[in-house]
Amino acid sequence: HTADAHRTDLMTITRHVLNEQSRNPESRGDFTILLSHIVLGCKFVASAVNKAGLAKLIGLAGETNVQGEEQKKLDVLSNEVFVKALVSSGRTCILVSEEDEEATFVDPALRGKYCVCFDPLDGSSNIDCGVSIGTIFGIYMIKDKDNVTLEDVLQPGTNMLAAGYCMYGSSCTLVLSTGSGVNGFTLDPSLGEFILTHPDIKIPKKGKIYSVNEGNAKNWDAAVAKFVEKCKYPKDGSPPKSLRYIGSMVADVHRTLLYGGVFLYPADKKSPNGKLRVLYEVFPMSFLMEQAGGQSFTGKERALDLVPTKIHERSPVFLGSYDDVEEIKALYAELA
Ligand code: AHG
Ligand code: MN
Ligand code: MN
Ligand code: MN
Repeated sequence: HTADAHRTDLMTITRHVLNEQSRNPESRGDFTILLSHIVLGCKFVASAVNKAGLAKLIGLAGETNVQGEEQKKLDVLSNEVFVKALVSSGRTCILVSEEDEEATFVDPALRGKYCVCFDPLDGSSNIDCGVSIGTIFGIYMIKDKDNVTLEDVLQPGTNMLAAGYCMYGSSCTLVLSTGSGVNGFTLDPSLGEFILTHPDIKIPKKGKIYSVNEGNAKNWDAAVAKFVEKCKYPKDGSPPKSLRYIGSMVADVHRTLLYGGVFLYPADKKSPNGKLRVLYEVFPMSFLMEQAGGQSFTGKERALDLVPTKIHERSPVFLGSYDDVEEIKALYAELA
């Protein structure tokens, strides 16, 4: 299998998804069309991010979102791009975006059978300094096309059909699962195609890295404090773990997925439900972690078992290598 064959046998994300979807007989290509519109949005945002500094796309947009965060210009631009791409796909019915207070119900004339929950630009605090940022998305199927309600996006994470993220960093990498494993694709700018570069990603069973904002240590509960203490001062004579925290969930999760380890955004006294949003941060990343052989825990339960009651609901999350999350679960059980 020479390198040339590799180069000519281009496995693009569209071909890869078509192959996956063709396995279920009733697939009519709707999901592939939906995905191609998500990919289009990612390509657009990637190009906007790459020239953000030049195209005056850094800095504030002068608005504040429902999260109480000052919206960056790129937050607003990427949100508009994804909403337009998803609506124009003709395959969506309800959209939930971090940047929109209410869910978007697509015009019945353009409706399809999918609901997409997305964080158009994750890691906004890192835009202006050029640190990796990303887009996160999760996809549900509506329950009854003749009775579309908000309940269609308040489903447990276990009902998600697919989830993924795109990371805008040194290269543009899209990581996706449609429920049968996790695959990574890298944008080849000369082709404008995402090419399969990380087939069948599996997270190491145990890692040597922990990823948490230590600045919140004062507010942690006993289980988190004890886990982090064990990472720094291991009792069993093993070497201390490394701390890596980028502050963009997409970048911290991508490193965790490829290198192993555990990412924590715990509850704390300030925010009893933690900071990360269930529908478009916790669920998609938990879905991917489970598909890659890892796991994701909220401090009380398996993250995907959560049933959200509001579209911007938050939850604490501990996700990554299977054995590392088991340690956190044991500490919560012991110290509950
Ligand atoms: P967003 O930029 O989409 O609002 O998300 C930011 C999130 C997530 O990307 C990251 O893990 C977390 O905020 C970092 O929070 P702290 O700065 O509190 O550590
Ligand atoms: Mn935000
Ligand atoms: Mn985010
Ligand atoms: Mn965001």
